[in-house]
Amino acid sequence: MMPRRLLLIDCDTGVDDALAILYLAADEAVEILAVGTVDGNVAPELGAENSLRALEAAGRPSVPVAIGAGAPLLQESRHAEHFHGEDGLGDAHLAPAKSRPTQEGAVEQMVRLARAHPGEISLLAIGPLTNVALALMVEPRLPRLLAEVVIMGGAVACPGNQSPWAEFNIAHDPEAAEIVLRASWRRCTLVGLDVTGQAILEPADHQRLGGSAPAEFASRILQQQMGANRRFELCDPLAAAILLDPSLATYQELPVSVDLDGLHTRGATIADRRITLAPTAPETRPKVAIAMSVDAARFLFEFANRLGSSG
Ligand code: RIB
Ligand code: CA
Repeated sequence: MMPRRLLLIDCDTGVDDALAILYLAADEAVEILAVGTVDGNVAPELGAENSLRALEAAGRPSVPVAIGAGAPLLQESRHAEHFHGEDGLGDAHLAPAKSRPTQEGAVEQMVRLARAHPGEISLLAIGPLTNVALALMVEPRLPRLLAEVVIMGGAVACPGNQSPWAEFNIAHDPEAAEIVLRASWRRCTLVGLDVTGQAILEPADHQRLGGSAPAEFASRILQQQMGANRRFELCDPLAAAILLDPSLATYQELPVSVDLDGLHTRGATIADRRITLAPTAPETRPKVAIAMSVDAARFLFEFANRLGSSG
């Protein structure tokens, strides 16, 4: 029996977060210990409802879902219903989830599980990093208690999507991202727009989704975006795939800072390349494994397989 990977997901369940949950839930070797939601694409209460819907569609109805931070640490919250739909799932008008969120908060849940399973849990953070930053403040040992953190976020050598310089998850709460990226994780992987820009679902792939509850769920929540744009960037599913199989990508190990003060660049993720240019450069902060290239074809093949593609 293969050892099961213990996962904790922190998300802002919009369309691609839900697809990431389906992707992970399709893997028998993965144990999703719990899900926490954070303000981002939608408010965390709606993110929790959408996470429960995705977990039920994926046949994992008993995974606990906890509600986390309802706003960024300092910045005003700006949701993304314009992209993910008013319901956060492509206005697919899905049935309400059968189960309810837990009473425990997402930050408390993260700290409790990290303490209970020291060195064993992989954290997949696919929303703004508010909950992770708060958990670091509550439990400063978190970077040693978790096995690793894989973050969907940032744009290191490519344009942003929330602004010319900043990617949405980082831009939504730059202060939280700065707190997280300067921590000394056992391993911190940044899956940003540098690679998600190659993980594009095309209309033909969308049309082939079907033949199972997860695939039908995926097809429905993608319909609005595929109808409007005839493409969908699989940001969060790619981060999930890289967590399960790091060989999908190649990496640069560099310190990463978040710009907090730039009039035009606030929320930008700045990699310190002096480290590679001059080994004697000052060690400014711990290094992050930044995904810089990806085998997109292999990922898209795996995505179709896991979600159920009819032919
Ligand atoms: O920039 C893309 C990221 O922002 C994804 O995680 C998407 O769900 C949104 O949270
Ligand atoms: Ca997300």
